[in-house]
Amino acid sequence: MDIFRIHGGNRLNGSVKVSGSKNGALPILFASLLCDGEVTLQNVPIALRDIGMSLRILETLGVESEVAEDGSVSLQVTDSGNTRADYKQVSQMRASICSLGPLLARRGEAIVSLPGGCNIGDRPIDLHIHGMEALGAKVTIENGYVMARASHLRGSTVYLSGPMGPTVLGTQNVMMAAVGADGDTVIEGAACEPEVRATAGFLRAMGVKVEGDGTHEIHIEGQGRLEGAGCLGATSFDVPPDRIETGTYVLAGAIAGGEVTVEGCIPSENSALLNLLERIGVSVEVGEKTLTVRGVDTVTPVDVSMLPYPAFPTDLQGPLMALLCRGTGVSLITDKVFPDRFNHLSELRRFGAKVRKEGPIAIIEGGAPLSGAKVMASDLRASACLVLAGLVADGITDVNRIYHLDRGYERMEEKLRGLGAEVERLPEQVVEQDLDLELV
Ligand code: EPU
Repeated sequence: MDIFRIHGGNRLNGSVKVSGSKNGALPILFASLLCDGEVTLQNVPIALRDIGMSLRILETLGVESEVAEDGSVSLQVTDSGNTRADYKQVSQMRASICSLGPLLARRGEAIVSLPGGCNIGDRPIDLHIHGMEALGAKVTIENGYVMARASHLRGSTVYLSGPMGPTVLGTQNVMMAAVGADGDTVIEGAACEPEVRATAGFLRAMGVKVEGDGTHEIHIEGQGRLEGAGCLGATSFDVPPDRIETGTYVLAGAIAGGEVTVEGCIPSENSALLNLLERIGVSVEVGEKTLTVRGVDTVTPVDVSMLPYPAFPTDLQGPLMALLCRGTGVSLITDKVFPDRFNHLSELRRFGAKVRKEGPIAIIEGGAPLSGAKVMASDLRASACLVLAGLVADGITDVNRIYHLDRGYERMEEKLRGLGAEVERLPEQVVEQDLDLELV
């Protein structure tokens, strides 16, 4: 397992180009199961572990893929025999539950292991199952697998919000299943996230009529069982830029800039972040596809909640916490989407940060000096939080278990180095040797 070694204190300056959206690309890769012709996707963040894992799962489901260095991926279903997505792979990645909808729509059966993913608290799939049942599937959980069957799905009206609000992957999963239903489907209480719009855009590129994406009510025109002449043909689609990676580099610029420009992003998708930064005294210049942020030494403390889009995204909660450690007073962060997503908190304390948690609320007493530390990444966005803290901590920081970061940030060390940070990726053994020397 690799680690990041960061020599803190360098001012970041320059431009960084954002990659294609991880959470936009993942469901679309699984949507290729719906298509009979060749699917070509551009701007796929191919260096991410989650993308590689998805392609391996798709291979077991009879989808051949070819990955080009420029980030384009071609996918083609060559064998429709298998309907089972196995525990070993699915348990490592939440998005693989998105094989459920397309398999049902296209093959009439889906046997998918209950998914795993980042360790950010309870992540049920009851809403996914409710959606499939509303379309007429029989669903049971047996031996750790979701078993779903339907000789014919039928379009329906389904309400998809739960106690924590709408579900992003659940909305995408039901949209994909609805493509293979007889009759139209209306998803009420749908997630509005840009990644849902990306899935809708891909379905439209395949010729499916989808309306209302980006709102809480989505209409999908069912194509009937996808077989023979009813199959969806070849298509091509551009994966949009990653709004969470964008936000992470904007926050890195706020913490450690200089002046940092994030290029190739869609600024309007980060309105909640930009609004918050303005409130706490960070200046951001908004271009057509760029965001330019100037670093600050302190920020105004703030009380902010993580909520579904268009509110502040839970995926930026960790990176934001690193910035709020520079507050001139006490900030509060409430995560209403994943109330237990605070693994980074105890690691931030190793830097000297004054942070604690009361229920779903993190309390950050800003202003404590941060000094470099050996810390442990526990999930993807928690890792980003620790890297950002390491950029401004005094001295050397080692962030262990960086494989979490590799799930969602392409070549982060290169991108940060391009901005002037001193970050290197080291194999764990090297670090263990260092540790031995220190102990001697
Ligand atoms: N929920 C239910 N029942 C369900 C599904 C979800 O109660 O059947 C609850 C969840 O426990 C949570 C809330 O609903 O409290 C929202 O969860 P959601 O289903 O929207 O999350 P997700 O679709 O599983 C995606 C992203 C996450 C991101 C969330 C919220 C992907 C692959 N994952 O997860 O991204 O945090 O939406 O925006 O798209 C990440 O990239 O680091 C990441 C975790």
